[in-house]
Amino acid sequence: MTADELKRASAQAAIKYVIETAKPGAIIGVGTGSTANLFIDELAAVKDRYRGAVASSEASRKRLQGHGIAVFDLNDVDDIPIYVDGADEITAKLAMIKGGGGALTREKIVAAVAKTFVCICDQSKLVTTMGKFPLPVEVITMARAYVARELVKLGGQPQLREGFVTDNGNVILDVKGLSIADPVGFETTVNQIVGVVTNGLFARRGADVLFLATAEGVKTVKR
Ligand code: 5RP
Repeated sequence: MTADELKRASAQAAIKYVIETAKPGAIIGVGTGSTANLFIDELAAVKDRYRGAVASSEASRKRLQGHGIAVFDLNDVDDIPIYVDGADEITAKLAMIKGGGGALTREKIVAAVAKTFVCICDQSKLVTTMGKFPLPVEVITMARAYVARELVKLGGQPQLREGFVTDNGNVILDVKGLSIADPVGFETTVNQIVGVVTNGLFARRGADVLFLATAEGVKTVKR
């Protein structure tokens, strides 16, 4: 199977789960990235069952609206039963690194509101120890150099994501050279650096369900 076929299989497992568990009329949380895009395309086929979606990025908002799916401002929504998103790395305990697409802050906010976080990805994303994928850190522009120095003290090699500005008007430092033994602790430590908006570790609030696409089929892992 190609990487795209694996991603699609995972997205299809997620839409089946949404249909089985979210009540008709619900608002669905939707993530960002190539796998989330395939989920959006699946959601389009059943869009009449739901009131609409909350998007974790401008790119996903546009894709949802392109399919005629209503997109709500999160401030107008009290209840998101399910949030579906991809990941850059995920462990068997369902902690993740996210933010390869730069949408980590909005993703973390929507994930915080959602009752159930469903992660969709292919088997290449499953790791024992996170950190091979550079950890994205969203930073207020004026704090970029200070935050970079602090990240070096934590053992990382931060690199500015050139030419990239987040949907929130900030920059991203991608931190290489990490081997994250304590994802919850490291997520907290990085978030405490002044000037950090948030970092791409999703360990404090990890996924609840993972649909992991493999050559042998889609495996379901629950927290
Ligand atoms: C975007 C993300 C994505 O979920 C992550 O980068 C995975 O993307 P893809 O499905 O394209 O591999 O966190 O900020």
